Amino acid sequence: MLAPLEGYSDGVLRTLCHRHGADLTFTEMAHVESFLRGNRQALEKITIHDSTPVQIQLLTGKEEHLEAFLAGFEPFPGFEGFNLNLSCPSPEVIRRGKGAAMIKRATKTGRLVSIIHGHGYRASLKMRLGTNAYEKSQKVYLNSLRGVDADLYVVHAKTASQESAEGDDYSVFPECIEAARGIPVIANGGIDSAEKVRLLRDMGVGGVMIGRAALSNPAIFDVLRNELGFNVPAKAIQGVDELKEEYDSIRAQLVGSERYWGAFMGIIGKRTGTIYY
Ligand SMILES: Cc1cc2nc3c(=O)[nH]c(=O)nc-3n(C[C@H](O)[C@H](O)[C@H](O)COP(=O)(O)O)c2cc1C
Repeated sequence: MLAPLEGYSDGVLRTLCHRHGADLTFTEMAHVESFLRGNRQALEKITIHDSTPVQIQLLTGKEEHLEAFLAGFEPFPGFEGFNLNLSCPSPEVIRRGKGAAMIKRATKTGRLVSIIHGHGYRASLKMRLGTNAYEKSQKVYLNSLRGVDADLYVVHAKTASQESAEGDDYSVFPECIEAARGIPVIANGGIDSAEKVRLLRDMGVGGVMIGRAALSNPAIFDVLRNELGFNVPAKAIQGVDELKEEYDSIRAQLVGSERYWGAFMGIIGKRTGTIYY
């Protein structure tokens, strides 16, 4: 899966990554309240122009706001459900009880998931291991896996107070998988090699989500599939120049924005954080 990446994962990048092996993609986070206010920038994030499989990521802590948004929502081809953001580390978002602050509000998260299900849509969670080391040591994140009936859990193996260059703690996955009662757990954080995917697969994760490594190389999904023994056609795995050309041709079709184009062209092929190709 391609991770939600604010400022990068518009429809063009999502389609490029889907063509290169990502089964599912996510829109960047947006506050439900901004949709309700009719904020143009937020609404653009969920205006979808093709049928690439996508979940819409939502930041919310209020049942009535979610209900009001869903009442006016129209699904579209490729729409695969909603993803609740329990992971945003911004202090401003946490102070408002949203993003990573939601990790310790499993009962509320459960109510939000029920509202989404009540409208007939799938619901997934994207969570961290708590807002800080103390919450992680108390394993508060397991409450959401045990007590919330989502269709999929994405676990970013880090707390909200950890820097993005810090290592992810994959040792949490076996316990997460047990807590999830058979519902798939998708691993996220620093995944950039077949070796890591193998390690996580052997622990029992249902899939992996890739962020920064896909900005550096949008064909990473096919690269890893190939190394893991999937039958990937050789022409699917392309170099930077071909991927830039393909991005441009998708952008022309989908009328992608110049801002995202600039961000993508500035990062493809470059070392991102601790990850590079
Ligand atoms: C530039 C950038 C923007 C991000 N935007 C979002 C976002 O909108 N929603 C979200 O849940 N996570 C967001 N994240 C976190 C990623 O989805 C992912 O969890 C994180 O980068 C770890 O995965 P990686 O190591 O494969 O990059 C963002 C990360 C980066 C680097």
